[in-house]
Amino acid sequence: MDTNYSLNSLFSLEGKTALVTGGSSGLGLIMAKAFIQNGVKVVISSRRREKCDLALTELRKYGDCEAVIADVTVSADRSRLLEEVEQHLGGLSILVNNAGANWGAPLAEYPDEGFEKVISTNLNAVFALTRDAVPLLKKSAATDNPSRIVNIGSMDGLHVPVVQRVPTFAYSASKAALHHLTRALAVELGPEHITVNAVAPGFFESRMTDYIFEHYLEDIQADCPLRRIGQAEEIAGVAIYLVSRAGNYTNGAVIPVDGGTNVSKGIKPWDER
Ligand SMILES: NC(=O)c1ccc[n+]([C@@H]2O[C@H](COP(=O)([O-])OP(=O)(O)OC[C@H]3O[C@@H](n4cnc5c(N)ncnc54)[C@H](OP(=O)(O)O)[C@@H]3O)[C@@H](O)[C@H]2O)c1
Repeated sequence: MDTNYSLNSLFSLEGKTALVTGGSSGLGLIMAKAFIQNGVKVVISSRRREKCDLALTELRKYGDCEAVIADVTVSADRSRLLEEVEQHLGGLSILVNNAGANWGAPLAEYPDEGFEKVISTNLNAVFALTRDAVPLLKKSAATDNPSRIVNIGSMDGLHVPVVQRVPTFAYSASKAALHHLTRALAVELGPEHITVNAVAPGFFESRMTDYIFEHYLEDIQADCPLRRIGQAEEIAGVAIYLVSRAGNYTNGAVIPVDGGTNVSKGIKPWDER
């Protein structure tokens, strides 16, 4: 029996291969960097070549990385993406479904196309890409080293957002559905030695949060029990855990990384009321 609890062994990612969708910026870029720095061969994907090229320049300082330009909402792009992943990596043991979109508008003006875009990116595309990646993931899967699917959900899929002044109906609904899809897939794919988990981040700096931080940073920090936004290493850490040996038995979990915001429901400690 393996009783090596050293960090090097417990959290080793040696020999793994990963696809990170939306890996050209924000949380995806952070996770891609964390994997590469720990010996994982990575493919990132996103729609815009300039962003991918910029990300590659950064990521290649640390190790092997390729980029594939692909829109996850387009079926032909997803097929080509998986073909190129197999060519570049020779297999796939980690799929991170991170690419995501948001749309904010008051209820009466919330457009059908906005709702559809968000659901199609954050939910439909994740389902379709995952379904089509399973044969590849199965090839790398073993009882003592399962393949991994990590879905990037959101604390807004755990509660009704309290700090955003621009309503994001489709986003919350898509992330809540993604969390539940995560559980259903965990049950389906567990017997194939593939774990499926979700991370539900709170607020982190990225292009998606630029506008919100510009206008509501103080409210956001006040509503978080830790009174701050998240830092890059706090996403990198949970991603590394989920795909490492330490995470082998974690399956069907939705892990909030939000400083406790989703459980606080705006409640303040007694002496701050
Ligand atoms: N930042 C936060 O505070 C926060 C909180 C909770 C959850 N999240 C989630 O974290 C994930 C990453 O978001 P982020 O905050 O890092 O924002 P971001 O910097 O805007 O990153 C989004 C990434 O997804 C890519 N993307 C968007 N639509 C795509 C599509 N149709 N096909 C392929 N790639 C696409 C973007 O690149 P292109 O534009 O080149 O396609 C980009 O690389 C999202 O799922 C988001 O919901 C973020």
